[in-house]
Amino acid sequence: MKKSLFVAVLLVSFFITDAQRAAAISVIPQPVSLVKGAGYFTLPASAVIIAPKNEEVKKMATDLAAKLSKGINKITVKEGAAVQPKSIILLLVNDKSIRKDGYRLKVTTTGVSLSANEPSGIFYGIQTLLQLFPGLIESKADVMMDDKWILPAVTIEDHPRFGWRGLMLDVSRHFFTVAQVKDYIDQMVKYKFNLLHLHLTDDQGWRIQIKSLPKLTEVGAWRVERTGTFGTLSKPQPGEAATYGGFYTQEDIKEIVKYAADRFVNILPEIDVPGHSLAAIAAYPELSCTPGEYYVSPGDRFMVWPGGGQHFYGLIDNTLCPANEKVYEFMEKVFTEVAQLFPFEYIHMGGDETARNFWEKTDAIKAMMQKENLKNLDEVQSYFVKRMEKIINSKGKKMIGWDEILDGGLAPNAAVMSWRGMKGGIEAARQGHEVVMSPTDFAYIDYMQGDAAIEPPVYATLRLKKAYQFDPLPEGIDASLVKGGQANLWTEQVYNTRHLQYMTWPRGFAIAEALWSPKEKRDWNDFARRTEQHFARLRAAEVKYAPSIYDPIVEVSKKDTATIIIKLSTEIEGLSIHYSFDNSFPDQYYPKYSMPLTVPKDAAAIKMITYRDNEPTGRMMVIPIAELKKRAGIK
Ligand code: ACM
Repeated sequence: MKKSLFVAVLLVSFFITDAQRAAAISVIPQPVSLVKGAGYFTLPASAVIIAPKNEEVKKMATDLAAKLSKGINKITVKEGAAVQPKSIILLLVNDKSIRKDGYRLKVTTTGVSLSANEPSGIFYGIQTLLQLFPGLIESKADVMMDDKWILPAVTIEDHPRFGWRGLMLDVSRHFFTVAQVKDYIDQMVKYKFNLLHLHLTDDQGWRIQIKSLPKLTEVGAWRVERTGTFGTLSKPQPGEAATYGGFYTQEDIKEIVKYAADRFVNILPEIDVPGHSLAAIAAYPELSCTPGEYYVSPGDRFMVWPGGGQHFYGLIDNTLCPANEKVYEFMEKVFTEVAQLFPFEYIHMGGDETARNFWEKTDAIKAMMQKENLKNLDEVQSYFVKRMEKIINSKGKKMIGWDEILDGGLAPNAAVMSWRGMKGGIEAARQGHEVVMSPTDFAYIDYMQGDAAIEPPVYATLRLKKAYQFDPLPEGIDASLVKGGQANLWTEQVYNTRHLQYMTWPRGFAIAEALWSPKEKRDWNDFARRTEQHFARLRAAEVKYAPSIYDPIVEVSKKDTATIIIKLSTEIEGLSIHYSFDNSFPDQYYPKYSMPLTVPKDAAAIKMITYRDNEPTGRMMVIPIAELKKRAGIK
């Protein structure tokens, strides 16, 4: 019996077809054109990658060979050798039909050819090629199984829709090491992102060494350690040592910049001023309009965010003083060193969320308003921003800032990063300025991606399906001024890299596709299918992702004054939702949701879980009835 079972298993594994071994074609971001061919290409265990006489491409070929070898194959790289059958050939060509950063990838039953006009195109083509291999190719460990690397025959022609395809990482609220930033770059390039915006300074830490201002990192990079919910954490206690934080030395920055450049990623540095500057002020208190003692915030309530569109205000003055010439001398030093370290053409000066309640009370500001003929505090901030631009331009760089830099009049050459929706970007383009779109409604990946009952709490939600609707080109805008877009990962609530990954993926897939793929290729159901395929790749790569698309969407309303109506749905197709009100854990044999529910008398909670093909797909979600009442507006 045992023996026959063994033989049966052997036979089944023997008869796995190439079609079964090959991954279903699931490329993210979706290429411009993808035409499936007939049959498969099996990479021989001793295949050759043929590279052109170009050092950059040869390095890519060597990296690809290492990835394909994985302990079971011996893939070698040869330069410019005559085309051999059963090989992978990388070709630098001069072909006007291939657009900038584009490539042509052809897999036939006899081999692979990848052509591009520039090394960047070869790099993007390799990312696509890797996605055609089974997900195990992403495994960090050697593959010990008796498997073959099989590719489906296909012809792909591809190029990006936008040149600015970014992710922003806030390294101030939590510091991430050089190795962790490199790892993040490795993940993002798989999805053809080409820009990493580093938010280097904020109230919670100054993260870049400025040699002429050593206290910025001696003092500003460190805070007292707290764990919990941002905005509720306790202030430093008297005499408590600030031991939590870190910063990048200038050598670290050079290392990150080089690592990124080798992968066709630009690094955009952000120095966020005049607001969000508590770490700088803790180091140099004389930069504030308000004399006093300052500390680097551990995430305490130093500001009031009233919500509902009202203006927030500071409980502590966390702004640089625009009426103090020392501030401009300080910024001159900072931007001089920043400009030398980052080759990218832009420097980001922040400009967002500046509390002005302390400025209002400052005599020096009042005097400056008279002297410079500034009518209000918007114009005071605009005066400051224009001086930032002068400094940045004098270093040979262009300035970009958050959309608040429109208030009081935009600096003459500034580019705008639109985050409070896209209206700031639309207005900036109307005024003839360059624009990058990163609106909260589609691109804020610090928000929760599912129900608050199961996600780590943040004050807003952005589901994958909504992120997938991101289009950086609103109707009527001058497209030539829209450089592209980016997703922003603020890290007030992101304490470690596992969670960093969880917040980025899969929404990063959606943003990548919005920025790379033609708009007319957008197809949510197909994207959801590909996303699930890529979950397996992320698991192989040991990268965490959010499984939130598998959890129910809960909508609550009220009938009469006291009856809760619960509507359940799912973000993706093909899932059934099972529920209980009796406190036990539902499985696929429990009632299946089919129409809006009311709550049985005295029930304490609803428990829900999704299934597909008799397997649980989502997480067990529990919502107390008291919480549902609150959501429904029932007292
Ligand atoms: C921002 O989210 N304050 C730019």
